[in-house]
Amino acid sequence: MEESKIKELIGKAMEMRNFSYTPYSHFNVGAALLAADGRIYTGCNIENASFTPTNCAERTAFFKAVSEGVKEFTAIAIVGGPDGATELDYCAPCGVCRQVMSEFCKDDFLIITAKSVDEYRTETLVENLPFRFGPKDLLG
Ligand code: THU
Repeated sequence: MEESKIKELIGKAMEMRNFSYTPYSHFNVGAALLAADGRIYTGCNIENASFTPTNCAERTAFFKAVSEGVKEFTAIAIVGGPDGATELDYCAPCGVCRQVMSEFCKDDFLIITAKSVDEYRTETLVENLPFRFGPKDLLG
């Protein structure tokens, strides 16, 4: 993937942290999901007083896309860290979000985690989740 596109996704993921609803963890995560048709779906984490209904940034982005009929994806950028932090560490997608990626994405789906637009890491879904349970296990 072109570096300019990676940086664009990271920039959008960073912006989305401003919309995170995190009164409990104060840990803000933003995501920008690139669909195969070039559209970008963004998401932030949305917490809940009952805790378990909390939705991660990645799943917010996926569910926005899928709810609009988009089910093929190329890459996702993820940026997360404590509210107000001046420097960020890499924020890996949680297991539940990896499973959602596994539902819709091929082995070469690119996961971009970033501290800034200039400092980022990339890995494919199969590198991140090598032995994944997915649609093929039920649908063949
Ligand atoms: N979170 C995400 O949104 N994405 C991740 O990949 C890791 C965790 C959120 C969930 C919760 O609102 C907060 O970060 C702390 O776990």
